[in-house]
Amino acid sequence: MEKTTNQNQIKPRRTFAIISHPDAGKTTLTEKLLFFGGAIRLAGTVKGRKAAKYATSDWMQIEKERGISVTSSAMQFSYNGIHINILDTPGHEDFSEDTYRTLMAADSAVMLIDLVKGVEAQTIKLFKVCRMRGIPIFTFINKLDRFGKDPLDVLQEIEDVLGINTVPLNWPVGMGKDFSAIYDRRHQCLELYRDGERKRIEAGERGLEDPALKDCLEPALYDKLREDLELLDIAGDPFDEEMIQEGMLSPVFFGSALSSIGVQTFLEQFLEMAPEPRPQKSSVGYIQPTDPQFSGFIFKIQANMNPAHRDRIAFMRVCSGRFERGMAANHVRSGKKIKLPQPQQFLAQERDILEEAYPGDVVGLFDPGIFRIGDTLSEEGTFEFEKLPQFAPEYFAKIINLDFSKYKQFQKGIKQLTEEGTVQVFRTFMDGPEELIVGVVGKLQFEVLEYRLENEYGTRIQLHHLLHHMARWVRSDKLVDPANLRGLRNLCVKDQDDQMVVLLEDEYYLDRLKDKYPEITFHTSSND
Ligand code: G4P
Repeated sequence: MEKTTNQNQIKPRRTFAIISHPDAGKTTLTEKLLFFGGAIRLAGTVKGRKAAKYATSDWMQIEKERGISVTSSAMQFSYNGIHINILDTPGHEDFSEDTYRTLMAADSAVMLIDLVKGVEAQTIKLFKVCRMRGIPIFTFINKLDRFGKDPLDVLQEIEDVLGINTVPLNWPVGMGKDFSAIYDRRHQCLELYRDGERKRIEAGERGLEDPALKDCLEPALYDKLREDLELLDIAGDPFDEEMIQEGMLSPVFFGSALSSIGVQTFLEQFLEMAPEPRPQKSSVGYIQPTDPQFSGFIFKIQANMNPAHRDRIAFMRVCSGRFERGMAANHVRSGKKIKLPQPQQFLAQERDILEEAYPGDVVGLFDPGIFRIGDTLSEEGTFEFEKLPQFAPEYFAKIINLDFSKYKQFQKGIKQLTEEGTVQVFRTFMDGPEELIVGVVGKLQFEVLEYRLENEYGTRIQLHHLLHHMARWVRSDKLVDPANLRGLRNLCVKDQDDQMVVLLEDEYYLDRLKDKYPEITFHTSSND
């Protein structure tokens, strides 16, 4: 079959992740977006919290027990002819490495902020990753139905803490119990939410002075709206499409996910501005989505998507061409041509076998143990997409296998969980017998490790937690004597690729090493 460009398929695709601190309302917002897209019939299907149901993305038993989202997945739906891929990111701060990696497959991000709490710790970390990638970041300030910070103060906080300029595209009228309208600055109209209905009132030539608009609002709320908008017009940043696309200016929307106020408006405007699938960096330059040959990369591996099957799914982002069910592709790392079996897509609680996919789409591939995070798949050629960054673990523990008769299962479990990116593994190579050390970005991953080794591999382990909180990869043009780096407080270990890594308690000890050995550089990951 002759290859044609797939421009018509690329243009209407949007692939994004929602980033937020736990409890800001990500599940609620996701659920509302799926609802407006007709992907679920009843709001509450994704996560009926009180009914002790859990989000569709909550696959693992452990997260059910704890009511948190341990692993991230992808969901697809359509709205007004736009094909949307939402990359779901784990909400709990302990699972940020998975979240970080998921962001590598997103073309834009929605940053969700709780009006009451403002910019929170997890949001800051995730924002930094988005910044590093230079993707557009759209802000949704949630929970306007509660009494929170002044909207102008929240914007100031975003600019001060995150260092990104903002341009509010709508503005709330009142907050708490008074919140029932937003003013759409771009389209100059008021959106009134009454009795569950959205009603748009256009501001005519007289703008805010238009009686049709003015009479809808209580005088005090109207005056505050006018004051705020005047201030924004004078002191705020102007709308600048280019800056938005470069991730230098964040369009801001206000609303309440729970009350569905401002959500649909946000979705429509976001889809208008969010970028189409972007070209992806590779070893042979940028791969354009319009390239006729199929290519993609694995950004996440998830086990136990369906506990009944104990299966492992590798999530691939399609980067170019057209993916077809049953096709074969080069698995560049191993140099083999492989058939890509059972491609799946995900929608709310269901998954479907997928017939075809286009750039921006996320495909779940059945993984018999061949894939690793960052793997490139391509129909032709042996180029590789840029390596996904590894994020430095912050917690470490010595791991002891308690059951020697299960040594093989233990090794297999560790290998697979490392490939999935649940943990990073190091080994000691000085002072006595070799010991295994696992490093994680968030402490809860230790529990996931213990739980999964026991439930999936039938082995029991003991963890001895270490005081170290930093890992630095050691590089130098000269030969480094590990004895110089190790100390009472530092531990010298090797990673899986035999690279030397020093584990440290804090910055103080790192600074001491830097002062003492200026010829050595210390890196936060194996590939930076
Ligand atoms: P997350 O995924 O980001 O962790 O947040 P999630 O959607 O689970 O929301 C966290 C809490 O915030 C939930 O309350 C949810 O109902 C509430 N929430 C979300 N959006 C809004 C909003 O616009 N306004 C208000 N007032 N609350 C909102 P919860 O008490 O933890 O759960 P539930 O008892 O309501 O089920």
